[in-house]
Amino acid sequence: MASAAAPRRIIIDTDPGIDDAMAIFFALASPELDVVALTTVFGNARTSICTDNALRLLEIAERTDIPVAEGAHGPLAMSFRGPADFVHGANGQGDAPLAPPTTSVVNDTAAELIIERAMAAPGEITLVPLGPLTNIARALQAEPRLAANLAGIVLMGGNAFCGGNASPAAEANIIGDPEAADIVFGAECPIVMAGLDVTERIVMTGAQLDLIGSVDDVRARHLRAILPYYRRFALESSGLDGIHVHDSTTISYLLAPQHFASVRYPIRVDTGDGVGRGKTWPRTRPAQHGPDLWAGRPLVTILTDADVDAVVRLELGRLGVEL
Ligand code: RIB
Ligand code: CA
Repeated sequence: MASAAAPRRIIIDTDPGIDDAMAIFFALASPELDVVALTTVFGNARTSICTDNALRLLEIAERTDIPVAEGAHGPLAMSFRGPADFVHGANGQGDAPLAPPTTSVVNDTAAELIIERAMAAPGEITLVPLGPLTNIARALQAEPRLAANLAGIVLMGGNAFCGGNASPAAEANIIGDPEAADIVFGAECPIVMAGLDVTERIVMTGAQLDLIGSVDDVRARHLRAILPYYRRFALESSGLDGIHVHDSTTISYLLAPQHFASVRYPIRVDTGDGVGRGKTWPRTRPAQHGPDLWAGRPLVTILTDADVDAVVRLELGRLGVEL
């Protein structure tokens, strides 16, 4: 585990994605964190589009020193459900006009880069998945020692005690690859789940989002260009003037865990083909009858609530807005 003074070294696995973009800029603006690499995955858009967006975001933030490794183009055991373009736009960035990236990915796949960096720095790297968990699962399968060499995993995904957003049962990242998620929640390392239980409690209002856009900064100008699409989806789908802070909640937790409430239970993921596919199920009490399908699973720290004002202020402050 990195010392208190040294920045926390993280690899962000991402499907940018508008809220992914906010989370990446938030992390890059936080000296407590050292973003070692970005790895890309399908989800909000097809992987190739997410990869271009990851490269673009690092160019905008003038951090092309950070490597980008492209990951899986589809889930472990089913075909890609298709992009959430109705939420993030066909280009994954609110259909804002974007120049093509001028940099390229590294040769490693996402799983190869994750394994290589984690095994070279035992106990130092925290994985921060913001999309379907395919790359993480592939890395865990390819290197059985990976979990023991990670500092931990802080992921956005799942819904333990509330309904889903991609289906009544499941959250978008988990339903994107339930088989991968069930593997990841079984990994023997510290896992924190920032699921809908907490992220749908954290709202950044339209007025606050307008403040981000007014910052005289190239990152803010990009967010000003991509947020209207996401805000329109929130307003039309749930009457919300603002956005739920999904991906950035992982970054807020890494920076200020004291602002969060949590419970700890083992988790299994419904990998069936029924209505519950993709649901994350905590075992809150011992199995009463029949086999315990959670047996041997580690406790997952499930975030259940947050000091909303504090975490919104934290993110806005790092994005250049002083409330
Ligand atoms: O359910 C929200 C999650 O799905 C976020 O990670 C968002 O970017 C989408 O990937
Ligand atoms: Ca995401």
